[in-house]
Amino acid sequence: MSEQFDYQLAFSRNIGWVTEDEQAILRTKRIAIAGMGGVGGSHLLTLVRAGISQFNLSDFDEFACENTNRQAGANTASYGKKKLDVMVEMAQAINPEVDIRLFPEGINHHNTEDFLSDVDCYVDSLDFFALEARKHVFKLCADKGIAATTAAPIGMGTAYLNFLPGKMSFEEYFRLEGYSEHEQYLRFFLGLTPAALQQAYLVDPSRLDLANKKGPSTMMGCQLASGVAGSQVLKILLNRGKVLNVPWGLHFDAYTNQFKKTWRPGGNNNPIQRLAFNIGKKKLLGNLSPTATTNTKPLSLIEKILDYARWAPSGDNMQAWQFEIINETSFIIHGTDTREHCVYDLDGHSSHLAHGILLETIAISASQFGLNIESTNDFTDPQHIKITVNLVADESIKPNTLLPYVKIRAVQRRAMGTRPLSESEKAALENALPEGFSVTWFESFDDRLKLAKLNFCNAKTRLTMKEAFHTHKNIIDWHQQFSETKIPEKALGVDWATARLMQWLFKDWKRIEIANKYFAGTLMPRIQLDFIPSLKSCAHFAIQADKEASSIEDYVNAGRAIQRFWLTTAKLGLGFQPEQTPVIFAKYLRQNIEFSQDEAVVENAKKGKAMFEALLDNTENTLFLGRIGRSQLPTSRSTRKPLTELIIKT
Ligand SMILES: Cc1cc2nc3c(=O)[nH]c(=O)nc-3n(C[C@H](O)[C@H](O)[C@H](O)COP(=O)(O)O)c2cc1C
Repeated sequence: MSEQFDYQLAFSRNIGWVTEDEQAILRTKRIAIAGMGGVGGSHLLTLVRAGISQFNLSDFDEFACENTNRQAGANTASYGKKKLDVMVEMAQAINPEVDIRLFPEGINHHNTEDFLSDVDCYVDSLDFFALEARKHVFKLCADKGIAATTAAPIGMGTAYLNFLPGKMSFEEYFRLEGYSEHEQYLRFFLGLTPAALQQAYLVDPSRLDLANKKGPSTMMGCQLASGVAGSQVLKILLNRGKVLNVPWGLHFDAYTNQFKKTWRPGGNNNPIQRLAFNIGKKKLLGNLSPTATTNTKPLSLIEKILDYARWAPSGDNMQAWQFEIINETSFIIHGTDTREHCVYDLDGHSSHLAHGILLETIAISASQFGLNIESTNDFTDPQHIKITVNLVADESIKPNTLLPYVKIRAVQRRAMGTRPLSESEKAALENALPEGFSVTWFESFDDRLKLAKLNFCNAKTRLTMKEAFHTHKNIIDWHQQFSETKIPEKALGVDWATARLMQWLFKDWKRIEIANKYFAGTLMPRIQLDFIPSLKSCAHFAIQADKEASSIEDYVNAGRAIQRFWLTTAKLGLGFQPEQTPVIFAKYLRQNIEFSQDEAVVENAKKGKAMFEALLDNTENTLFLGRIGRSQLPTSRSTRKPLTELIIKT
């Protein structure tokens, strides 16, 4: 064991993948790296550990807090320090013999010649948006016969391209000339990632902000990129292995488990690239003026809380609420109901549950600011309820552990994994309910089969009932993956053919009547929406109160309890699907609330009620029925109305 730096020893574990002679060659090579930020710092450290000992490095910037997630040199001690100085120090700490020439003003038209002098290979790590400098340095590399490689961190993967002397050049591949600044960014991006593997999981596209020259980036992408760039450089320097030149490109994505080799003869002039450019222009550049900046007014404290709370779920994503801001610490929730047009809400209590869910979400959201909520109810008009919320500073309030799940929580209507809930999972869910509420589990195959039969029967009531036709017709956003005010088709959990059948049926009630009479038209939706997923779950549950809910307040309080339970499933990484309509029809029958003119429908609902009552005691105390399963987050979901639409303008 030696504690003295010794080149041979320090890099001896490279030997095997390279020979001793090759390692000696690497020691003599000089690499130029432009940019020590996002990926440049990782590139440098990788190449230093490969044993390369001479570098030309440029960067004019300083480290700051926002670099922390991905830049190798960014940490609390380096904030405010020159990136170049910090990275040189790190490189020297690895190999004290490194010979580094510094270009602290960054690279520009005046110093690029110098920057590339004596260089064996150029590794691109300029800021994505530094296109002028990039074009210039790649042009000079081509003129001087210097191999250049670019491995870009893209999402949780890397896309890489090489530009070898005498082969297709940067400009021939990207073809940027003659395009506007933003179009050039788009063309550069499309050329970098022809396989576009990252597209599948960009969860917040708004963070790709061309106008303000910002985009999301991860350390995983940076590290993968550096691993790849290091390997390309090594092959180029040692003249080993096949090095691909553009128009070939490679993209490895660790998130989607994919690796794609792309070939785009003509570069961005290739028809596939041209098509992608035209689509991208519409999608990304549509509303972008050349000087556009996002200049949105910062949200007030109440708006921040409500911006979170608006993600509370509501029946059919109706969001039957608006907010009136009174002053800096209080506001009124104006809650309406959907009884006029929704057969599942004839007494307004489904909406009142949602109002309670909203109130609990507000309390959870306020906790991030150390605030408690005090609320006063005005339920004199049941169809227009008012809840005044006061925010009260409270030192004992810590951010609620359910807070990060408020926006993530979503309905999973598809079949889920059936591995039983563990005792600790069940305990966490039971403990999420406040006093006065309890949960009954239905876990065995037998029990789940009973629930499957109940849901299958209940679906017949729903789908053959004229009174529900308009709700169903209007609530589905056909062909959509996301929907602000409805349920998108892809979140329904039916296959494409069944969706088309449903869309066709929902055009006209007569079609449903005929289909039901002669072709068992509701069979496929009932099997796909209810029967199969009821079995393919780990448990069904019924949330019950100690006594039957009768007042609006009872329902609002129940809503608060339900939201804690629901968010806890999200926290446990479980999928969740409400099965609320059997509860609703059983209540209508119990309380003689007329919900259908069709006797056959009422008879079927009675059958469902009997099945429900056979399942558990005190069904009248049941406030929420649903199922839980092992599931990833759904890829399709309802989103929400923007906050601006929910705040009443005074
Ligand atoms: C009180 C209440 C009852 C619900 N009942 C059902 C139901 O019976 N079936 C269903 O598929 N979804 C039901 N939902 C889920 C809503 O449709 C869903 O929350 C809404 O569309 C928003 O979608 P998200 O929860 O995925 O964000 C219910 C939601 C609430 C709040």
